[in-house]
Amino acid sequence: MSSLVISPGPVTTLTLNRPEVRNAFNEELIRQLTEWAESVTPDGPVRVAVLQGAGSVFCAGADLQWMSKMVGYSREENLDDARRAAGMFRVLDSVPIPLIGRIHGAALGGGSGLAAVCDVVVAAEDAVFGFTEVTLGILPAMISPYVVRRIGLSASRELCLNGVRFSAARAKEIGLAHEVVAAERLDLAVDKHVQAFLKAAPSAVARTKRLLTDVYGRRPADVMAMTVDAIATQRVSAEGQDGMRAFLEKRAPKWTHPRK
Ligand code: COA
Repeated sequence: MSSLVISPGPVTTLTLNRPEVRNAFNEELIRQLTEWAESVTPDGPVRVAVLQGAGSVFCAGADLQWMSKMVGYSREENLDDARRAAGMFRVLDSVPIPLIGRIHGAALGGGSGLAAVCDVVVAAEDAVFGFTEVTLGILPAMISPYVVRRIGLSASRELCLNGVRFSAARAKEIGLAHEVVAAERLDLAVDKHVQAFLKAAPSAVARTKRLLTDVYGRRPADVMAMTVDAIATQRVSAEGQDGMRAFLEKRAPKWTHPRK
């Protein structure tokens, strides 16, 4: 059985599928997630993806069995392995469609890192989060840019330095999770976000996602040319034109019918 089960379609479901090790990610899972993210294009068939875990938890982070064996590898092999994991977070972060994290059970270490690269995180109220790496003698290294961007330096300094496990409610308070619901309402809550994303124009979503990352942390004056160019391009695009006309003509825009 594959480490990643992909149910393709306009709404693609990605299921981390190593429940016997709580979906800890190894080389194979990293490769599969990376290949999937690299295959997604803004004008392709996938409109939204839901990332979830098989079994009792979402994801227990990096595979500690695998990582502990690194001691027998050369420095170059060790760096290559870390580059592959860092590459996975990078392509998942920039996948040009909305990525929804469905978190149940636990999201620890890189599992919380995966939450940090999702656009929307819906968590079960009994789910546990944590940047536990330091308690294992390692570092939240590859996930740190995404974590700091998501929860800020203050919460990062607390939670990445003490490695404590924290509740879904705290995850929401610091912006790591967006919605916390009873476990039995998780699918319903995820579907609500899916339906909202399906109403948005795919090209507008892809460009907005990119724009938000590009403007983040920069001075408004420094990004003005980029924002001006973005809207000038989008409003004369096919989807920009169709979306505005659809509103004025009181009809649904074309993209509300998912591409096959
Ligand atoms: N890497 C490798 N194996 C892992 C793992 C990881 N990150 N997390 C769990 N496993 C393995 C356990 O070693 C155990 O293997 P065994 O059956 O051979 O003993 C199996 O998965 C089940 O783990 P267990 O702890 O018994 O499950 P649980 O349901 O009681 O608890 C967790 C689940 C996720 C809360 C717990 O496993 C845990 O805290 N894992 C470590 C998470 C972590 O700190 N990750 C950071 C990595 S950088």
